[in-house]
Amino acid sequence: MTTATPSPSPETVLVAVAWPYANNHMHLGHVAGAYLPADIYARYHRMRGDRVLMVSGSDSHGTPVTVRAEEEGSTPEAVFQRYHQSFLATFEGMGISFDLFTSTDTENHRQVTQEIFLRLLERGYLYEAEQEQLFDAKMGRFLPDRYVEGTCPKCGFEGARGDQCDNCGSTLDAVELKNPRSRLSDSTPELRRTTHFFLKLSAFTEALQQWVETKEHWRLNVRNFTLGMLREGLKDRAITRDLTWGVPIPLEGEQYQSKRIYVWFEAVIGYLSASKEWAASPLNPSGNAEDWRAWWEGDTAKTVYFIGKDNIPFHTVIWPAMLMGFGGLNLPYDVPANQYLTMSGAKASKSRGGVVWMPDYLERYDPDPLRYLLTASAPETSDADFSWTEFLRRNNDELVARWGNLVNRVLTITRRNYDGRVPDAPATLAPESRELLERVDAAFASVGGDYDAVQLRRALNGAMEVASAANQYLDQRAPWQAVKTDRDHAAETLHVALNVISGLVTLLNPVLPFTCQQAWKLLGHEGDVQAAGWRRTPVLAGTVLPEAVPLFKKLDDAIVAEEEERLVR
Ligand code: MF3
Ligand code: ZN
Repeated sequence: MTTATPSPSPETVLVAVAWPYANNHMHLGHVAGAYLPADIYARYHRMRGDRVLMVSGSDSHGTPVTVRAEEEGSTPEAVFQRYHQSFLATFEGMGISFDLFTSTDTENHRQVTQEIFLRLLERGYLYEAEQEQLFDAKMGRFLPDRYVEGTCPKCGFEGARGDQCDNCGSTLDAVELKNPRSRLSDSTPELRRTTHFFLKLSAFTEALQQWVETKEHWRLNVRNFTLGMLREGLKDRAITRDLTWGVPIPLEGEQYQSKRIYVWFEAVIGYLSASKEWAASPLNPSGNAEDWRAWWEGDTAKTVYFIGKDNIPFHTVIWPAMLMGFGGLNLPYDVPANQYLTMSGAKASKSRGGVVWMPDYLERYDPDPLRYLLTASAPETSDADFSWTEFLRRNNDELVARWGNLVNRVLTITRRNYDGRVPDAPATLAPESRELLERVDAAFASVGGDYDAVQLRRALNGAMEVASAANQYLDQRAPWQAVKTDRDHAAETLHVALNVISGLVTLLNPVLPFTCQQAWKLLGHEGDVQAAGWRRTPVLAGTVLPEAVPLFKKLDDAIVAEEEERLVR
């Protein structure tokens, strides 16, 4: 990744992104919920010249992966490998720019996890205790987490899983489910005693409360959800399971052989282990394996966790408690969890879930129109609805008509009438020219502030309003007519418009990296827009402009019916 000229006060920013279970392809909801906002945030900070580390990896363990393997009669390794490759292809296709996307199936991750386990054990934050777990007598197996389904004790939802209720977001213990049934045999499980390690969450309630109180910059729903959990009081939680796929318990003893560390306890450790892996790998340009400390020690880094709302408790309560227990490592600075992306426009079938799979999307469309839509209607403060109608409208009315046409018509008129070069502007500009330039320059602070606050909808809106102002400016000064009657007037308009477009290309680049890089070249700029810094790069008189090509394709209305058909199939 290229880095920009350092800003006057560079920040150290960890962009920590949820670890997707490697049990299926990604769909739109994943991208909208975590990966895209994280990428936009990372790109913005890189453009400012900040020291950014963006990490995540495939969550290869746990019952989501083993259940899938059993369903298809293969192995957890095979399932995880297949979807890990699929995730990498999705990130490549969508321009999700991880510094490292690894997996929990690495020796490094096992070591870091076991080190944290042992330290917490030594400090008395882990203890062994017997508990009752659901047991499938027919199959002769315990039923951790997703091996069992039933009714949520909190909200009454009937499809709750043993680890979590997707309806109300509560994290659950399988034994809490009402009317539990085994997914292996469909039988009603019985209770059997088993021994597990417990994380002493109860010891952290007060410290967590005090810590969350200081987080006034958190999203309201994230803060309130967390404070609500803390007010109820935290119960200690089992962090091992009766499974053989996962990180082994780092202790001697026959009794530990058939148990593994709970997927959630180790997956969150991935943020740290991936940072260490990156620092020690050839990806780190400095070659110093200790560089991970810049993001994890000393409390000067901004550590921001991009997740969906179902993952809130693990990132605002459990992971912070683990970090407090371990000591010396930075707690999350922000956890801008997103709400859900709902699907409409089609009576989506339950079996396929009415989901748009990323590999399918990328086979048919370009990445930037989706990045645009998922940012313009991002589920930041409430659930947001995806429809193909809206996808088409945003693409055709906003990307093609408002932004793409602005670029295209200014470049085309300029090339045609000024020998393919940027014309000069007079020393004293007309008031409307000055105003527009001031407006785009001022947007760097306001739009930048919105990116930084993870108000990405607002950031995009702010930039697109400048594009609208530029279109009005053009309509008002009509350079396509003025070239025939007042060439200096037209020259000023086009010179100013090209400079405003240059500013917009930078402002929009975090959201639209593919087309902004194209537009960057069309303006006659060298290199990468990503490396040009968070400021308007002037377009100088005399610059030779290459032939303009449209940045976006107008989509045919017919795709709406086609795609909706696909959704219900
Ligand atoms: N694998 C989990 C999920 O898909 C998310 C894990 S986020 C992590 O819901 F940070 F804990 F890894
Ligand atoms: Zn519930």
